Amino acid sequence: MIIKPKTRGFISLTAHPKGCEENVRQQIAFAEKHNIPNGPKNVLVIGASTGYGLASRITLAFGGGANTIGISFERPSEKDKPASAGWYNSVAFKKFAEQRGLLAENINGDAFSSEVKEQVIDLIRQKFGQIDCVVYSLASPKRTDPFTGEVFKSVLKPIGKPFTGKTINVDREEVYEVTIEPATAEEVRATEKVMGGEDWELWIQALHNEKLLANGVKTVAYSYIGPEITWPIYANGTIGAAKDDLMRAMEAIKFLLADIGGQAIVSVNKAVVTQASAAIPVVPLYISILFKVMKEKEIHEGCIGQMVRLFSERLYGPHAGKSLDEQGRIRLDDFELNRDVQDAIAKIWPKISTENLKEFSDIDGYKQEFLKLFGFGLASIDYDDDVEI
Ligand SMILES: NC(=O)c1ccc[n+]([C@@H]2O[C@H](COP(=O)([O-])OP(=O)(O)OC[C@H]3O[C@@H](n4cnc5c(N)ncnc54)[C@H](O)[C@@H]3O)[C@@H](O)[C@H]2O)c1
Repeated sequence: MIIKPKTRGFISLTAHPKGCEENVRQQIAFAEKHNIPNGPKNVLVIGASTGYGLASRITLAFGGGANTIGISFERPSEKDKPASAGWYNSVAFKKFAEQRGLLAENINGDAFSSEVKEQVIDLIRQKFGQIDCVVYSLASPKRTDPFTGEVFKSVLKPIGKPFTGKTINVDREEVYEVTIEPATAEEVRATEKVMGGEDWELWIQALHNEKLLANGVKTVAYSYIGPEITWPIYANGTIGAAKDDLMRAMEAIKFLLADIGGQAIVSVNKAVVTQASAAIPVVPLYISILFKVMKEKEIHEGCIGQMVRLFSERLYGPHAGKSLDEQGRIRLDDFELNRDVQDAIAKIWPKISTENLKEFSDIDGYKQEFLKLFGFGLASIDYDDDVEI
């Protein structure tokens, strides 16, 4: 089949298997140049097929030599329809890891469910023994409560009052003003149920109960704060409330793991182009400007750059556990929130418009990164070739 990009707003209906493989290969090539001192040997990544989870898995396997289990919820191919990008990424990861002699197991299913937790527990017992690092990197629009069957849907809304601000239609390269009504109390709670820390806790409890976590295990979950222009929709919005709940879960997990000397930590990462961030109002416009500013200052990082820094400098190695913020979090958003960077963005933000978008933002870079998520726009791939889906 010949596969071309078909994007609709913040989703892509197609993905290219060879392009996704190449994207994974490039991230591996970057990770291989780094080393994770005293890194973990057996790693579970929950949300492993795209974005930060995939980059975590690649870093720990190819920078640290870890065996990995990757859980994701992806769509396989159908007769005339390619699989989702995450599906192809996981296939490519497994291929490259096995060529390296690493154990790499993919589980495709709903990580929120008890069934997938049981499946993973069996797999760890059979093939891994114990896990010494658990990465929690899920981003999902909904979650079925495993005990009650109730379905919760997350929303991206402000809390308390409506928000009006600039956003972008990436396809049309149009900047416009959007007003988003505040979330109801029920929506806030639903977003916390989906994107908060409850499921992270359930995973750690389940693995700990089965004695499948090694002494000194580390578990990390990802958060975002960002600058003030995004706060109404992010940090002070429904998703921010869910991220606060991650902090509650972090404390609960620390307590739970105390008997095996385990650690739980939240890492606040930088804004990057992923399927999850593309769906948030305001954020893609902010990221386009951020890219321009950070590239000019030569401090631009994508998912893999961030994850290499996380695992080789902040979570493992001689400086592990140092330079945490006052809430005990790792701050990988240090370059993003750097005063110079944010001052430059604050100057651009009030004047950015459809007309000057290319001058004041890296919209082209944003779009390239977005297409790359689905395996498109890679120089070494011939997109007119017939490929097996
Ligand atoms: N993208 C950013 O700019 C950014 C910045 C800071 C923090 N984060 C955080 O990083 C984490 C990962 O986000 P991302 O941007 O990499 O997202 P992403 O959309 O690229 O990845 C989400 C992953 O979750 C998996 N997933 C979703 N629902 C699932 C389910 N029910 N069962 C199993 N797997 C499921 C997907 O298959 C995929 O592997 C999130 O907590 C996000 O808030 C993202």
